Amino acid sequence: MGAITVVTSGKGGVGKSTITAHLGRALAMRGRRVLILDGDAGLRCQDLLLGVSSSLLFDMGDVVRGNCEPIRAIYECPDTQGLWLLPAPQTWENRLSPYVMRQLAELLADYYDHVLIDSPAGIDEGFEAACAAAQRALVVTQCTPVCLRSSEHVHRLLTDRGIRQQRLIINRFSYAAFRRQDDFDDLDSVIDTAGIRLMGIVPEDTLLAKNGDQKSLLLRRSAGFAAMQRLAARLEGESVPLGSLRKF
Ligand SMILES: Nc1ncnc2c1ncn2[C@@H]1O[C@H](COP(=O)(O)OP(=O)(O)OP(=O)(O)O)[C@@H](O)[C@H]1O
Ligand SMILES: [Mg+2]
Repeated sequence: MGAITVVTSGKGGVGKSTITAHLGRALAMRGRRVLILDGDAGLRCQDLLLGVSSSLLFDMGDVVRGNCEPIRAIYECPDTQGLWLLPAPQTWENRLSPYVMRQLAELLADYYDHVLIDSPAGIDEGFEAACAAAQRALVVTQCTPVCLRSSEHVHRLLTDRGIRQQRLIINRFSYAAFRRQDDFDDLDSVIDTAGIRLMGIVPEDTLLAKNGDQKSLLLRRSAGFAAMQRLAARLEGESVPLGSLRKF
């Protein structure tokens, strides 16, 4: 069975979906079979980020209602071999319960090396469903006191739910902004506030945000792209140095 990982945050808009999509691509580029489950019923976006929105007919709501076989609702990402998406239901009313989400994710994990679940914002039912099947969690945050408070809260919720493997991803990092804002003395205090071990730092990078042509040399030479490759390697247990933050 493949590894089931939820990408979550508590606070909205910190970059969960962006990181899920790029991490999925980075893992697929390492030769893995990767399935992204969009857990954001009603506000789904992975189909747009992965370039499959024009071909969508079915979603995970159709699968659990028996309207189609799972395979008919799973779409291969056109620009990345080895990466697939099972879209979230289009409406919140058709959301999956935590129990059903768990059954579905565990069933599908047999066919992939990695299942990545993009959690919705907040800590309500959508969060519960996204976390229900996960063996480990990546908690995305930014370097602000508000974001870090929500990361610490989510850390406790995940621990209560038995998800012990938790790693922190600091997104949209800019060394200049970090120094200017002066909210934290250093990165150690950021990590201590969240209470979660660091997995990696993703810089502020408009090329990541654009989600453009994955084969473009500009993107492949970007700091954001390199950060996603490092995250993928660390997720698979490789030890990769953090590098100099001053470059971000
Ligand atoms: N590293 C980055 N550099 C620049 N922009 C980024 C980066 N990561 C995310 N963004 C931008 O930040 C915005 C929010 O990102 P995203 O939608 O991934 O967040 P989210 O946590 O999934 O939001 P929600 O909680 O609403 O689901 C988007 O416009 C995205 O392009
Ligand atoms: Mg999102």
